[in-house]
Amino acid sequence: MDTNDVLTIGEVSRRSGFAASALRYYEKEGLVAATRTVGGQRRYRRSVLRRLAFIRAASNVGLSLEEIRAELAQLPANRTPTKADWMRISAHWRRRLDEQVAALEALRDKLDSCIGCGCLSLKQCGISNPADRAASTSDAPGAAHLPALLRRQPH
Ligand code: FES
Repeated sequence: MDTNDVLTIGEVSRRSGFAASALRYYEKEGLVAATRTVGGQRRYRRSVLRRLAFIRAASNVGLSLEEIRAELAQLPANRTPTKADWMRISAHWRRRLDEQVAALEALRDKLDSCIGCGCLSLKQCGISNPADRAASTSDAPGAAHLPALLRRQPH
């Protein structure tokens, strides 16, 4: 097997775990590329499997489709990405992941204390958020004591 192997949509679907409909959707969204046979059937480079693995990992850690598209756009469209190509993404993505890790740690460590959401339901709210003072801060609406990443609109 080598990286220039050409795979059918069925082979890519089985190996990546994505449904064929998802592969067609990602192609329409410009996240993956496929060629066509004379009969109009899709054919993929084997390297598409790494892109798909990246898409799944990125969405599982909370990256939006737009963020994933921006990352993948750094990869060459007309050849199999090299280690250097992926290292460029990795460097950029590292900052984003560090931000994500910090947000998850904040959620883990703050969930049993006042998060400044306005509920005033915990004894500690009277100290950390008297009379819902957080409502008038720039971090409202939402849980003003949580990192911005955890307060953005779900995608
Ligand atoms: S936890 Fe909601 S205001 Fe304190």
